[in-house]
Amino acid sequence: MNGELRHSLQGGESEGEWVTPSMENSKRAIEESFPIVEINRLAIPERNAFKPIYQMHKWFARRASCVFRAILLGAMKPAGTDIMDEFYKDHTHDPDTNGVRILDPFMGGGTTVVEALRLGCHVTGIDLNPVAWFIVKTEVEPVNIEDLKAAFKRLEERPTLSGKPIKEELLSHYKTECPCCGAGREEADIIYNFWVKSAICTNPTCRKPVPLFPDYIIAMKSPTVRYLPDYKCNSCSKEFDLDIGRASLISEESLMVNNPRDASGDRRSNKRWARYNPIEKNAKCPWCSKTIMVGPVNTVKKEKKKVPLAVLLCPHCSSVWQYRGTLPDEVSCPLCSKSYSAHEGNTSDKGSFICPSCGTKDQIIKSIRKLPEDQLLPTSLYAIEGYCPECAGNGGFDETDLLGNSKNRKQEVTHICNIKDNNGKFFKKITPSDLKRYQDAEKRWEKEKGSLPYPKSEIPIGEKTKSGLIAHHYKYWYHMFNPRQLLCLSTLLKAIGEEEDQVLKEMLLSGFFTTIESNNVFTRHRADADKTEGVFARHDFQPKATFAEGNVWGTEYGKCTFLKCFNKALEGKEFCYSTFDRKVSQEKIISEERDEVIELNQQSKIFCGNSQNFIMSETNFVITDPPYAGNVNYSELADFFYVWLRLILSKNYPCFSPEITPKAEEIIENPTRGKSATDYKDGLIEVWKRCNENLADDGLLVFTFHHSEGSAWESLLESLCNAGFVIEAIYPIHSESETSLHLMDKQAISYDLIHVCKKKVNFSEEKKRSWAGVRQEIRQKAREEIKVIESGRYGKEKLSPPDVNIILIGKCLELYSRHYGQIVDYKGEVVPLQEALTAIRMMVEQIVSAQRPLPSELEHIDPISYVYLTCLCDRKEIQSDEVHKTTRGIMEPEALIKTGVIRKGRAKRGRTYEVKLPDERYKELQKLFLSTRKTIDQKFLFPEMEEAKFDRIPLVDALHYLMGLAGASENIVPWLNEFRPIIPQIRVSLEYMIEKNPTFREPISKVLSLIEV
Ligand SMILES: C[S@@+](CC[C@H](N)C(=O)[O-])C[C@H]1O[C@@H](n2cnc3c(N)ncnc32)[C@H](O)[C@@H]1O
Ligand SMILES: [Zn+2]
Ligand SMILES: [Zn+2]
Ligand SMILES: [Zn+2]
Ligand SMILES: [Zn+2]
Ligand SMILES: [Zn+2]
Repeated sequence: MNGELRHSLQGGESEGEWVTPSMENSKRAIEESFPIVEINRLAIPERNAFKPIYQMHKWFARRASCVFRAILLGAMKPAGTDIMDEFYKDHTHDPDTNGVRILDPFMGGGTTVVEALRLGCHVTGIDLNPVAWFIVKTEVEPVNIEDLKAAFKRLEERPTLSGKPIKEELLSHYKTECPCCGAGREEADIIYNFWVKSAICTNPTCRKPVPLFPDYIIAMKSPTVRYLPDYKCNSCSKEFDLDIGRASLISEESLMVNNPRDASGDRRSNKRWARYNPIEKNAKCPWCSKTIMVGPVNTVKKEKKKVPLAVLLCPHCSSVWQYRGTLPDEVSCPLCSKSYSAHEGNTSDKGSFICPSCGTKDQIIKSIRKLPEDQLLPTSLYAIEGYCPECAGNGGFDETDLLGNSKNRKQEVTHICNIKDNNGKFFKKITPSDLKRYQDAEKRWEKEKGSLPYPKSEIPIGEKTKSGLIAHHYKYWYHMFNPRQLLCLSTLLKAIGEEEDQVLKEMLLSGFFTTIESNNVFTRHRADADKTEGVFARHDFQPKATFAEGNVWGTEYGKCTFLKCFNKALEGKEFCYSTFDRKVSQEKIISEERDEVIELNQQSKIFCGNSQNFIMSETNFVITDPPYAGNVNYSELADFFYVWLRLILSKNYPCFSPEITPKAEEIIENPTRGKSATDYKDGLIEVWKRCNENLADDGLLVFTFHHSEGSAWESLLESLCNAGFVIEAIYPIHSESETSLHLMDKQAISYDLIHVCKKKVNFSEEKKRSWAGVRQEIRQKAREEIKVIESGRYGKEKLSPPDVNIILIGKCLELYSRHYGQIVDYKGEVVPLQEALTAIRMMVEQIVSAQRPLPSELEHIDPISYVYLTCLCDRKEIQSDEVHKTTRGIMEPEALIKTGVIRKGRAKRGRTYEVKLPDERYKELQKLFLSTRKTIDQKFLFPEMEEAKFDRIPLVDALHYLMGLAGASENIVPWLNEFRPIIPQIRVSLEYMIEKNPTFREPISKVLSLIEV
């Protein structure tokens, strides 16, 4: 297999063997319903811990695999099947799924491919991005687990340029002295080095470097400590908490400061406390200060408490010290005695800094612009987190498992150790030997880089790269790493490249892949969680003022070491042969094992190429997850990995020979690269057309897409209709708990929508349809569907109101999409999707919201008037977030302002809107109506919809105009004539308004009295 797209996938070697499974009952389960509630519930744990195969590599915006398993089963099983029942069955020999042909033209991280292979399908996966292709390839490539372990062993031992085996070599760059037991010996391992960037003060007379600390808190943790409550001093008889554990994140006793009020621990804050000395078996009484002997503590029942600790940096003397108890606003350093606020560093707001020497405040980016173009902000080390096996009590281990993890053979600690209870981990300040070690690595890098593989190319200008990287002077890809990281990573990459077995080499490379994501100068340490987040914790390149440099090879601790990352790859491969699914059983999540295996079979293929131009033999189902406008910039972000991978892979795969991943053919909105929303839509249409051509007539296209009120979703729906698809159903997927959904009702929830589409056949024969008629059908359909929902099609559990809304909109869209391009309004003009969608949302909203019913005559009223009558007509002003809430799902709030129903409020800094009175709108409305009058004499296409001439004028305008005329004592009668077709709506609206807002009584009564009954 290679990475080149074969433009024609037709005539694949195994075509003849493909069997088309019979589809007697041609309607599929997913066309009728989907287990929304159950799958949402499973998606929560899944999103917290993806199954091992999906953790082998970092990829952007991964989808929960349970969603795709359910989609696949829903597509392949006949209507009426209980999908959750099937979900938990083993499909190794299922004739309904085995051999079914599945296509994913945007395979990304491979969810569809993996899940379909599990079910025995014949899969074709395509992605433009070589990184995605590599990810999926290594996920599904068959590999012998024992061989893979052996390959890792070989790697560990492989000699580097220095002659040392690679494991030893890489570990040696991250050694430090243990502040507890290590005097003079650098035998502890560094877990993280903490670095800070400095801006140069922009005041020309100052120009001092300003370290960009947001605060001086290095770590915060509340370890659990065992203690004896109310222990009585045998000298003074007073009581105190005797801590058996030592709760500490640093080693030096002299650098520990306690809050005088609440240092004992949570819920013990008013107690005095003392530490037990396990060697001397004594303690110092906090009341009388006498050292008292303590009897055997092992036999006494101990309690547990949490002790809040903070590790702080002193900005004056650089000491790293510990504060126990609630951290006050101001602290005083135990070493230099200077006071400072631990919460306030030199940075403030977004991206600005304050020079402590001269007080100048400026933007960080301005300081960067003053530097020569090839110069980055200077960085300095300010703390270390280390691990001492000796202090952890693991010093005596001689057994290690394959990955070099010690087998936890605890030995007695023979010294009073403050860090033992912290598993031998400690924070400490930087010493000259730590600096020297770094400088040595820097020198080595300069010497060896000529013979090591590392990415030398320039970072191209793009949407994400220009602001995050280039503006900050990251000009070359290797700038994203410091020299020690470059030395270790490229040494490691070289060694991986020396593996002879191609498949095993790629598996080792998978471990390397994830390692680089967290071993660069964009890796942030989270003080609150003591963990790091790699560059792609967000989907962009965000430069960090402080960053953590981890131990590249890795030992016991540290999140993203090569050891851990390779282990993830290994576990991913193990999962291929021991698959499982999660289940909620008695409120607990359990895993159920399956016999299903994940392996690329003879009839399955994955390709790296552009899905806008492929041909293949007929597929049964297209199941995919298309790109979402400009949401995730796959190709620009993937370049970060690509530039490293290609150093090894370009020899074997042509798709890895260019310097960066393909940009021109990517389907995306990317203004910097000149790709507009239209380009995005056109790209989608092309792929949908290919899918349509390659799909069996009774096949389905099913895909997930993010839901938003913006135009991306409209573009998507439009692209489907354009490519000849009918939208059959839409199901909402989210990972919020159902209860919180009910509470939130219609507030902002992030949704993914599953779209079920079928091919539109014979659409050339279609006749024109009137929008009015289709609207009637749509309303009817929504009413029927709501009954079906209530009767329990989606299971016993009740769906949340927003879910019901979405499902109904989906069902209504079927009618629209079936007649797409043929639906015309009274002027004979084709009704655009956007307009239809607004109307559909409205109708659904009306049918669903039982709380604020409008009279039945107002059933198909326009959205502006709907919002006005239901929410605005009885108020003077409205908060802006409330406007958003009431218009959500119906239209943009801007539309209300544009029509002149509300205006931005002057009070409260514009966070409110004022509702305009009819009198205030009168003049502008007069202009409007005098001009529309001229067009009113047109012939109508649909006489049954005479009222249609007011289709483009919100009803509320007519109401306000009439009320305004009444208020100004103008002649109303000629206008009532003009509005004749909509008089019934006008009458009930006015009656409705008078009820809601008595101050309208006068003008309304006047108008009503002139309307003959
Ligand atoms: C939303 S992602 C798929 C994510 C995937 N379902 C997952 O769970 O990881 C969309 C993918 O479309 C790919 N893509 C964009 N334009 C493409 C094109 N013209 N042909 C093929 N793939 C393309 C991107 O590289 C990206 O991987
Ligand atoms: Zn030690
Ligand atoms: Zn005492
Ligand atoms: Zn100090
Ligand atoms: Zn200054
Ligand atoms: Zn120790």
